Amino acid sequence: MIDDSEFVPCNGRQDLEASTFSAVVDRRLTRRGFVSMVAATAAVSACASLSSARSRPFDFVEISRGLDETIHVPVGYDAHTVIKWGDPLFTDAPAFDPLGQTAAAQVRQFGYNNDFLGTVPVPGDEKNINRAILCVNHEYTSTPLMFPDADQLSAEHTLTEMAAHGGSIVEIEFDGSIWQPVVPSLYNRRITAETAMEITGPAAGHARMATSTNPDGRVVAGTLNNCAGGITPWGSFLMAEENVNGNFMGSLPEGHREAENHERMGVPAGWYQWGQFVDRFDVSKEPNEPNRFGWIVEVDPTDPTSTPKKRTALGRFKHEGSETVIAPDGRLVIYMGDDQQFEYVYKFVTRDPVDQRRADANADLLDHGTLYVARFDEDGTVAWLPLVHGTGPLTPANGFGSQADVVIEARRAADLLGATPMDRPEDVQPSERHGTAYVMLTNNSGREEANAANPRLNNAYGHVVEITEPGGDFAATTSRWDLLVQGGDPAKPELGAQFSNVTSTDGWFSCPDNGAVDPNGRLWVSTDGNQRTGSADGLWAVETEGEGRGTSRAFFRAPIGAEVCGPVFSADGLNLFIAVQHPGDGRGATFSNPTTRWPDFQETMPPRPSVIAIRRRDGGPVGG
Ligand code: FEO
Ligand code: CA
Ligand code: CA
Ligand code: CA
Repeated sequence: MIDDSEFVPCNGRQDLEASTFSAVVDRRLTRRGFVSMVAATAAVSACASLSSARSRPFDFVEISRGLDETIHVPVGYDAHTVIKWGDPLFTDAPAFDPLGQTAAAQVRQFGYNNDFLGTVPVPGDEKNINRAILCVNHEYTSTPLMFPDADQLSAEHTLTEMAAHGGSIVEIEFDGSIWQPVVPSLYNRRITAETAMEITGPAAGHARMATSTNPDGRVVAGTLNNCAGGITPWGSFLMAEENVNGNFMGSLPEGHREAENHERMGVPAGWYQWGQFVDRFDVSKEPNEPNRFGWIVEVDPTDPTSTPKKRTALGRFKHEGSETVIAPDGRLVIYMGDDQQFEYVYKFVTRDPVDQRRADANADLLDHGTLYVARFDEDGTVAWLPLVHGTGPLTPANGFGSQADVVIEARRAADLLGATPMDRPEDVQPSERHGTAYVMLTNNSGREEANAANPRLNNAYGHVVEITEPGGDFAATTSRWDLLVQGGDPAKPELGAQFSNVTSTDGWFSCPDNGAVDPNGRLWVSTDGNQRTGSADGLWAVETEGEGRGTSRAFFRAPIGAEVCGPVFSADGLNLFIAVQHPGDGRGATFSNPTTRWPDFQETMPPRPSVIAIRRRDGGPVGG
C-alpha cells in the first residue's frame, strides 16, 4: 500500500539542501573505503561457512519501461494467472459474483490484495516438484474497487472485507503447462479477521491484552493487514500484521492508560468504518483490542484445523516481513521491518536451536529468544540493541513493568534504545549464501534530516541497505552495513540515485518493497511506487557481487495501479511466483471505473489482485 501520501516530487528543495546531502554522501564513501579494508582482512578467517562461488550472471533480455493495462515479461518467458481474488478454494464455495458478494462467500474464496507468497511441500510427497502448498497473505481491502455500492457502507461490506483479510492456504499443482489451484484439497484454508487464534509469548495473558470477550488475554479473533511474511525451516507460515491501526476508529476514554501507546502506533487511524458495525474495532468500546494486532502470526499450513499463534516475543509494530535464516549455531534469526516513515529494522534470535529433524520440536521455538532493533552507525557498524526488560532504559521508571510491556510497546522501547529511524523499512531479505540481509527502504517524503543509512532528504525513491553479518553469523549483535542501490533515475543527478553505471535506462527502479533470493543466490527486488516515475511497478534483478554490484535489470512489469509483492522461486529455480496487488487502483478509481480490468478484461469483472507464475519457455531457470 502506498501510504506515502505527502509525496512531493523532487524539486529545487533538494538543491537548497545539497550541501547537507553531499556531506552525507562523502561520509558514506569514506566509510565504504573502510569497509573494503576490513572485509579484505577479515574475509579469510571469518567466512569459512560462506560459499565463495560467484552467483550465475543474470541472462535475460530486459523489458522496457512503460505503463499500460497488463503485465510484461521478457522475451522467451510466459506468465499465467494461478489464482485470483474470489476464486473458490472449496467445492462448496460459490463462484465469484462481483455484484453479489457476501462474507459467507468470501470466507470460502481467495482473499483480496495478495501480498506475501511462500510455498511448502505437500506432506508425504516432498520430492514432487509439481505440487506445493501456497501460503498467501492478504494485506488490505480497497472498498471503492471491491464493491459496486461502496458509497452505501453496510455491515455486509465490513464482514466481507474482514473475510478478505488474512491469508489463503491453497494446494497448487503444475500440469506440465500451468500451475492451478487444487480443489478440493486436504490443505486449503482461509484465515480471516475472525479465525480463532492463540496469543503466546511474553504478552499472553497480560491485562493489556484483555477485552470484554476475552478477559484472560490469551485468545483473539483473527489477523489483519497481512503484508509480507516468511516460511520457517520447519515449514510454518509467518504472517506479518502491518497497518492494523487503519481498521480502528473511535476515541479512548479520557486519560486512558493506552493513550500514549495507541498514539505511537497511529491508533485509531479511522481509514475504515468497521467500528460502526463491529464493536471491537471501536476503541471507545474495546480500548485494548488494538494491542492484540500488530504481531507475527505463525500458522501450520499442513493442518487446516491447527490454531494460528500470535508470537508476541517478536514484538508489536507495523510488521512487514519475517524472513528467516538459521545461524551457524543452529538458532533461528528472523528479520523484520516496521513499515512507516522513521521506523526501525528488527531481528529476533531464538533462544534455542532449530531441530532440523523433527518439525514438531520447534512448535514453541518462537516464544523464547531476544528481539533486537538496529542502530546504523556512520562508520558502517550495525549495533543490534536488545529489547529486554530490565536492561538499559526498559524499566518500570519508563513504564515498562515487564517484558509484556516491552513487546506491546516495542516502538517506544526502540525509541529509548536509540535505534536509527529509517525510510520505511519493508521486507528484509537474508541471503544465506552471502551472509547478508537486504533491507528494502521504500521511501520517506518526510525526511528533513539525513542519517548515514538514510542519506537523502525528501527520499521519494527509496533505497536498499545491505547488512553483512560477520562470517555469516546471522545471530551476531554487531554487523556491518552498506548502501546497495538508491532508487530513481540515475540520469538526473539532482535525484541522487545510485545504481552501477551499466544499469540501462530501463533497469533502474524506485520504491523497493519486497526482496527475494533465488536458488542461485541472486537478489530480486519488487516495487511499490515505481509508478510515480511514469513506469509501472515491477520486479528487478539486482547484482550484489563484484564489478557488477548495483546493476539492476527490469524483468517484470505490473498493470497500471498495481504494486508487486511476494516474489518467490521454486526450489529448482524454474518457477517464479509473484503477487500482483491492487491492479486498477489510482486516484478516483472505483469498481465501475478502474484504471484496468486486469486480469479478466471483462466489462462485468472488476480488476482482481492475483498470483501469477512465470516460467521460461525452454524450461530453464528463471533469470538465466
Ligand atoms: Fe504493506 Fe509495507 O507494505
Ligand atoms: Ca507495499
Ligand atoms: Ca510491502
Ligand atoms: Ca522476501
